[in-house]
Order: sequence, then structure tokens, then C-alpha cells
Amino acid sequence: MPRAIQITAFGGPEQMQLVELPVGEPGPGEIRIRHHACGLNYIDVYQRTGLYANPLPLTLGMEGAGVVEAVGEGVTHLKPGDRAAYASNPPGSYSEARVMPARCVVKLPDTIGFDTAAGMMLKGLTAQYLLKKTRPVEGLEPGDFVLFHAAAGGVGLIACQWARALGLQLIGTAGSAAKCELALAHGAAHMIDYSREDFVARVKDITGGRGVKVVYDSVGKDTWEGSLNCLRPFGLMASFGNASGPVAPFAPGILGPKGSLYVTRQTLFTHIATREATQAMADDLFAVVGSGAVTIRIDQRYPLAEAGQAHRDLEARKTTGSTVLLP
Ligand SMILES: NC(=O)c1ccc[n+]([C@@H]2O[C@H](COP(=O)([O-])OP(=O)(O)OC[C@H]3O[C@@H](n4cnc5c(N)ncnc54)[C@H](OP(=O)(O)O)[C@@H]3O)[C@@H](O)[C@H]2O)c1
Repeated sequence: MPRAIQITAFGGPEQMQLVELPVGEPGPGEIRIRHHACGLNYIDVYQRTGLYANPLPLTLGMEGAGVVEAVGEGVTHLKPGDRAAYASNPPGSYSEARVMPARCVVKLPDTIGFDTAAGMMLKGLTAQYLLKKTRPVEGLEPGDFVLFHAAAGGVGLIACQWARALGLQLIGTAGSAAKCELALAHGAAHMIDYSREDFVARVKDITGGRGVKVVYDSVGKDTWEGSLNCLRPFGLMASFGNASGPVAPFAPGILGPKGSLYVTRQTLFTHIATREATQAMADDLFAVVGSGAVTIRIDQRYPLAEAGQAHRDLEARKTTGSTVLLP
């Protein structure tokens, strides 16, 4: 029977157990995929702790790549033997094989390896919708400044490169000098080590006092207030994660005096709700990776059985770029 990493209670990495689970035949609209690599994402931590609740028992993981073994009724865009990859809801990618909805699975170009695919689908589609579709009301033009927190992480390093390809000046933050160097080498125009520096003051300095048009904030609790203070009038606060903890409730009244700001909370799963939208975004991602403008760094690899250690390292801020689990 295929092995998988499952939790039966919310909590720390010690809840993650390697188990054997039966995998049946795909039903209508489903496929069965055998994974060659699974992606690690911070959302897996939120699901493990219960911050994002799912029914238990739960096989973790929302990103993977492998070979389609079987397709259910009505699935026309995939067939057995196809190389494929996905970012998906529901979770379940920390496994050797699974049955899942076909809607979020796309064929993988021959030029993209399984490890790379598993390290880029959820993170790359997220960078895609943030930079292309989550834009301030005044738009984004080449040369504009954007602020992107945790710029040396999985989503972050893809965003640095993609922002450069779009002509944007990405100001990034990261928690060490080495991480700042890494992000600069991947296209960030400026980096701020927010473990040592006041990022609001540095953003004001870099932008000549004006602030940025948009902040992409996945750190959450620790950066929320400062991020709002980095925005110029009519700027957009795009919150998309909570690595430091969820943002506390706030009064909309604070947005007026700060410059009639806009706030949004985005999730990838709204953007990839249909097969057509998923395919269009994936095509854009495959094109930017295929052109060489964005490279996917797999900086950590763990056997699937060591997924708990991967979570510990991710939460301890020891990782950079993408991480894959190998079944
Ligand atoms: N809403 C969506 O659609 C969506 C989709 C994908 C990802 N996300 C979010 O985007 C973020 C990045 O995801 P990822 O998988 O690529 O992870 P990641 O960026 O590789 O790892 C998270 C990073 O957050 C930073 N961080 C800041 N405060 C932290 C804290 N208290 N504890 C742990 N880390 C902290 C760390 O970088 P430094 O040490 O440099 O601070 C850490 O490396 C996550 O918050 C994730 O939930 C959201």
C-alpha cells in the first residue's frame, strides 16, 4: 500500500505519522497520480496546527508532481502515463500516490523535471496571481516599487525574479544578511534585513519618502502595522499569509488617515477554482520558467518519511527557496 504522512490530531510536527493508506480508483472528474516529488509549503504548517482547519485524519500537502496512473469518467485533459503537476485543495500530496480532483492538475512540459515542478506549482501560481492580478488601483508600471516580505523564501525567490522580469523594483525583506544576498542575486532591487533594520524607515529612504504602491505581506502579525506605513496614498495592502501569526482584527477607520489605503486578503484557491483558470495561470508560469527568466531553486530535499523535520526547519526559518519531499 502507498505510504503517506497523516495527522490524526492538530499540533506540532510530532503529530505527523508515516502510514500506509489504500488508494482506490478515481471517480468522475478525478485522477490517480503517483508522486515523484511533493512540495513543502507554509500552508502545510497552518493545516498541521489547525489554524486552517480540515477534517481529520488528514494527509498533508498541497503541491506535487508525478505520473497519472488512471483517470475517472469525464476527464479529458489528462490520460494514464502523462507527466503532471498541481497545486490543490484538498490536501493529500505528502503521499506516494493519491486520488484527487483532475480540475487542478495540469500536464507538465517535458523540459520541467518533477522536483522543479513540485517546488513551483503552488508557490509559482501564487507569485503569478500576486504580481499579475493583485494590483493597486493606480496600476503598476515598470520602475514602480513594490514591497515583498520574506523574499528569500519559496514564494519570495520566485516573486523576486518575476518582478524583475516585469520591470518592477522589488524591495524585499528577509531575516538574515545571507538571505538578503540570495534575494538580491535573484532579482530583488533592494533588500532589508528586518531582523536588524526598521523596514518602514528603509522603505521610505529607498523610495525618496513616497512609499510603495503595494505591499505583498505573508508574514502577518509581525509586519502588518509596518506594512501599512510603507504604502503611498491609494496603495494596496495585499495580505496573503501568517508565518508569524494571524493579523489581529483592525478598524477600517485607520486606513483613511494613512492615505485612503486598500486592503485585500488573497488566497490562491480562489484563483485556481476552475480548470481553465488553472491552465492559463500554469501556462504563464511554465512560459516564464521555460524562458529562463525565473529559475526554481530547490534548496532542501527530504525523504517523505522525514516530513516532520522539514516542517521543523521551515518553522525555524532555516530554509530558503523551495523544499521538496521525495517519496
Ligand atoms: N494566500 C496564498 O494564496 C498563499 C499561497 C502560498 C503561500 N502563501 C504564504 O506565503 C508565505 C510564504 O510561503 P512559503 O511556503 O514560500 O514559505 P517560506 O517563505 O519559504 O517560509 C516562510 C518564511 O517566512 C518568514 N517568517 C517571518 N516571520 C516568521 C516566523 N515568526 N516564523 C516562521 N517564519 C517566519 C521566514 O523568512 P525570514 O527568516 O526571511 O523572515 C520564513 O522563511 C507563507 O506565509 C504562506 O502561507 C500564501
